[in-house]
Amino acid sequence: MSALPYLKFAGPVLDAATIDGVALVLRSGQLTSGPWVKKFESALSAFCAGRPVRVLTSATAAIEVALQLCGIGAGDEVITSAQSFFTVLNMIATVGAKPVFVDCDLVTRNIDLAAVEAAITPRTRAIMPTHWPGSLVDMDALHALARRHRLRVIEDAALVIGSRWNGRNVGAFGDLVTFSFHPNKNMTSIEGGALVVNDDDEAARIEPLRFHGITYLADRTRDVAFPGGKFNLPDVNARIGVAQLARLPEFLAQRRALVDRYCERFASDPGCVLPPRPAGDDGQSWNMWSVLLPLPRMTLARKAFRDALEARGIGTGVSYEALHLCTLGRSYGYKDGDFPVTERIARETVALPLHAAMTVADVDRVCSAVAGIIVPALQ
Ligand SMILES: Cc1ncc(COP(=O)(O)O)c(C=O)c1O
Repeated sequence: MSALPYLKFAGPVLDAATIDGVALVLRSGQLTSGPWVKKFESALSAFCAGRPVRVLTSATAAIEVALQLCGIGAGDEVITSAQSFFTVLNMIATVGAKPVFVDCDLVTRNIDLAAVEAAITPRTRAIMPTHWPGSLVDMDALHALARRHRLRVIEDAALVIGSRWNGRNVGAFGDLVTFSFHPNKNMTSIEGGALVVNDDDEAARIEPLRFHGITYLADRTRDVAFPGGKFNLPDVNARIGVAQLARLPEFLAQRRALVDRYCERFASDPGCVLPPRPAGDDGQSWNMWSVLLPLPRMTLARKAFRDALEARGIGTGVSYEALHLCTLGRSYGYKDGDFPVTERIARETVALPLHAAMTVADVDRVCSAVAGIIVPALQ
């Protein structure tokens, strides 16, 4: 075992002022959604160039509500990347639609837009791309494609709050955009998510969808016309979110400095496929730094590699398994070999530690450990 402290592969920075702020909320008696939710939504809306934003208990909830806002259900198809988190599959399935997977790019890991176009059928209602850290989906091409085919776009921006496209924040334009504030993301509200919409009408339609389907009547009673969810964010979480959004630029700058160091240290490493290299003020944010291991040339399996890092006190993650090959994905008829790039990433990827509480020395520790495991294992 390592004498050094355990290095998590992801995690938040929570400062004392935020913790004190949470204590004040707890003492205020206003625990569930209240004034801090409104403040968090206003701050996020300002961040998204004034577009309406509503917060929910997770990005998963935001994606489910986004699909419902689009009226997507049984008989509809949603095109998404097979290289993403289970949420996108789960929520498409939850609303009763069919997930239509396509492959992705090996380096950026973003959805292949040519494959999206080829997968469009008369039943297609929406495209749901996941943006990857280090390189956004080509927004101009994505939205032009959606306009051409009259499709909705639900951006899964869980990993990229703070990334910019042509100088504009992700969320500041487009159609529906979802963010996650899980502790592993660029900023956190512990659990939490947000949905950015086009106008006040769409924002108003979120209210019953996130709170039991309830609408309020003039006689101070309530009605329910459809089964709504229960996705309202508590004020305790919103208080944390407000503080985190204010510190987001600082968190992103630290993540970028760490990625610069990873790139420097991995530059001479043989065989790992690396994420896109950051260049100048490229507007990209870095939630994750995951490499593809040269497994075909290694005598170690990925599990053994990860176990060896774990034994040195270094955590790792797998982002992500191939969605079409999980049991639910296969139930739609998908099989091995359908999406070779996604499958290669799923086999070879390892997310190395990256979070704003880390130092450049931590990156050096990881890189030395990685080299110490890979190099002797190369055939
Ligand atoms: C790409 C991606 N999308 C969506 C989600 C779901 O986020 P949440 O945990 O807030 O529901 C995650 C969670 O890790 C994710 O990685």
